[in-house]
Amino acid sequence: MHIDLAVVPVAGQGTRLLPSTKSQPKEMLPVGRKPVVQYVVEELALSGIKRLLFVTGPGKTSIENHFDLNSELIAFLRETGKEDLLAELAFERQNLDYFYTRQRRQLGLGHAILCARPIVGNQPFVVALGDSILGVNAQSDIVHRLVEEFIHSKADAVIAFEEVPREEVIHYGIAQPRQSNRPLFELADIVEKPSVADAPSNLAVAARYVFSPYIFELLQHTAPGKGGEIQLTDAIRVLIQGGGKVIGIKLGADERRFDIGNFESYFRAFVEFALADPKYGPDLRDWVRTLMGRTS
Ligand code: UTP
Repeated sequence: MHIDLAVVPVAGQGTRLLPSTKSQPKEMLPVGRKPVVQYVVEELALSGIKRLLFVTGPGKTSIENHFDLNSELIAFLRETGKEDLLAELAFERQNLDYFYTRQRRQLGLGHAILCARPIVGNQPFVVALGDSILGVNAQSDIVHRLVEEFIHSKADAVIAFEEVPREEVIHYGIAQPRQSNRPLFELADIVEKPSVADAPSNLAVAARYVFSPYIFELLQHTAPGKGGEIQLTDAIRVLIQGGGKVIGIKLGADERRFDIGNFESYFRAFVEFALADPKYGPDLRDWVRTLMGRTS
């Protein structure tokens, strides 16, 4: 079995990041030098993904433009003696195929994935959320590990998880593992955004998945859940309850998830990536130290 197709949902409204997201997608917000979704694509390419299917929506055309070859810009940089900047466009030349479909109504992540069904058809596929970066500068190969495990264990789904502070379980899908404290575990259940008291663990879904096409069948019959949206977590839950094999893999310490869905974690991600920048980081660190000295 060979899995080289990733569905990248980018159709969400990004209301938690208003007004920044009023007329631009949150997936195009810069973190350090690059827009979020470029990190996602580069990470997927590192893991052997060759075909990307973006599920887009209103106001998201800048994502399509970003991955197009821009020969006019290249010619302009050459004519104006700015050849050194051509390296910044190297990502355009990655050996990847891009496909786009639309989620015509924003009915939730589960629904966005269902929109990919006519194109994905009857093959296993990766899902990578377009608003989440894994690790500083996205060096994670988690998708490769998920795919290997999916093939090896003949699973129905393999999902990346991250341990989060207990009070943050209310924001994520949370696993109930059959075996605790293992880097790789089978899921007994999964719950969408539980209360702190009800959370079965602190293992939060971390934006990367591999699914067999059977998930489409389940999503098709998933009623709107929390927030009136068709929740992917609800379909995964039905998969487990029906005897499906769902495996979780914990992210390593250097694969921390940067969730660019709210200002708190967006600010943290931007600052951490900027401070880690080989060219601008050192000066920025000095400047931040001075600033902190002034305000403390
Ligand atoms: P979020 O759960 O953060 O939802 O999406 P959102 O609608 O984008 O943001 P808020 O809650 O209004 O602030 C997680 C990922 O799923 C995609 C988003 O684009 C993001 O990459 N998504 C979400 C869709 O593609 N369609 C949807 O209907 C919802």
